[in-house]
Amino acid sequence: MLDERQRFLVRYAPDFAPFIVARASGAWLETTEGRRVLDFTSGQICSTIGHNHPHFVAALTRSLESVIHLNAWMLSEPVLDLAEALVRLVPAPLDRVLLLNTGGEANEAALRIAKMHTGRFEVVGLTRSWHGLQAGAASVNLAGGHAGYGPMMPGTFAIPAPYAYRCPVRHCSGTCDCSCLDAGFELIDQQSVGALCAVIVEPILSAGGVIVPPPHYFRRLGQHCADRGMLLIMDEAQTGFGRLGTMFGFELYGVVPDILSVSKTLGGGIPLAAAITSAAIEEDCYRKGFVQVTSHVADPLPAAAGLAVIEVIEREHLVEQARSRGEYLVRRLQELAQRYEQIGDIRGQGLLVGLELVEDRSSKQPAEALAEAVCDECLCQGLSMNIVRAVGGMRNCFRMAPPLSITESEIDTAVTIIDRALQKHL
Ligand SMILES: Cc1ncc(COP(=O)(O)O)c(C=O)c1O
Repeated sequence: MLDERQRFLVRYAPDFAPFIVARASGAWLETTEGRRVLDFTSGQICSTIGHNHPHFVAALTRSLESVIHLNAWMLSEPVLDLAEALVRLVPAPLDRVLLLNTGGEANEAALRIAKMHTGRFEVVGLTRSWHGLQAGAASVNLAGGHAGYGPMMPGTFAIPAPYAYRCPVRHCSGTCDCSCLDAGFELIDQQSVGALCAVIVEPILSAGGVIVPPPHYFRRLGQHCADRGMLLIMDEAQTGFGRLGTMFGFELYGVVPDILSVSKTLGGGIPLAAAITSAAIEEDCYRKGFVQVTSHVADPLPAAAGLAVIEVIEREHLVEQARSRGEYLVRRLQELAQRYEQIGDIRGQGLLVGLELVEDRSSKQPAEALAEAVCDECLCQGLSMNIVRAVGGMRNCFRMAPPLSITESEIDTAVTIIDRALQKHL
């Protein structure tokens, strides 16, 4: 055991990192032993502006010195400013903001809004997706997390994720023609009790293996929703605020959701989330007695954090940077792929990039042991990366999501470490 005090913690995941972090700055962590580690996961995919950005720290300090927490019915300048700033960033008709703390909570609230507005309760999610651990959100957490926790919400349906590299309906290869989507809705129509309420989706399925739906996917999904009077909820926990090289992921697909859920990347590491919807939906829910009072719904401190994150993203042009640095990262990884047959697929958008390791490109057999060994070796050499733990035992895909402020030279450092780790374990 690394530190005796670990025994006081509930182990919420299989293991902890083999070091204790003392401080963080930009894309780097520093351990208590003085080792530097390049953070290719932006913490828990939150720190898009880099760790401890001075503008962010100053905004939090100012907030700590003025007012931190308030009763839910009292408003403050940061809360009002953040609501206004969010509405400025999203397209019409999204102009009503509910502030919350975590991604799961924002999705839960989005589902509650959708249920109250439509008067229905059936919810559709994509396999391999992750939406949080609150009961409603967890029911559509189809990348895992169901076994052992009792029944999920009645009226939950899954449609297959458009995973073109391994087509879920064994129909396409390499590109997705949306057959999985159409077949999925055929199944839903036959199972529904006539209470279809909403579809909840990530623009890119991150925890499920960085799965990038084809360009026309969400327009077609939107049509399926419209045909059935369902709302489209987009969960941009990881993709919102620049990560994909656009302010929001839905912009890439030419759709506007009925409810937008944002979280992780909004707070820059401080718990902050929001469900954003239209005036028409908000007014209807208000009239019907909608309640979502939570302990921190009106707290100025997290709102100040969100405002500072948005300011840094805009001032430092991090959206554009995510696009160009993402292209650079993919180019560097493609160079590696020319030398390693075991790199089966590289996919992603902006600075959310997946790299799938296989035994060989023709069998596409997931190389799980290799992925584990490479991941451990990278950490030893100073690079922290995730293996995405998707269902079906396939733990062979790295998810790379460095801060959007990452430099080309830091990307070179990461690629060199991955190269050395692959060399060592092949
Ligand atoms: C897309 C997505 N939605 C929701 C969540 C849940 O967010 P939180 O852990 O803040 O509840 C996550 C967490 O990984 C996520 O990736």
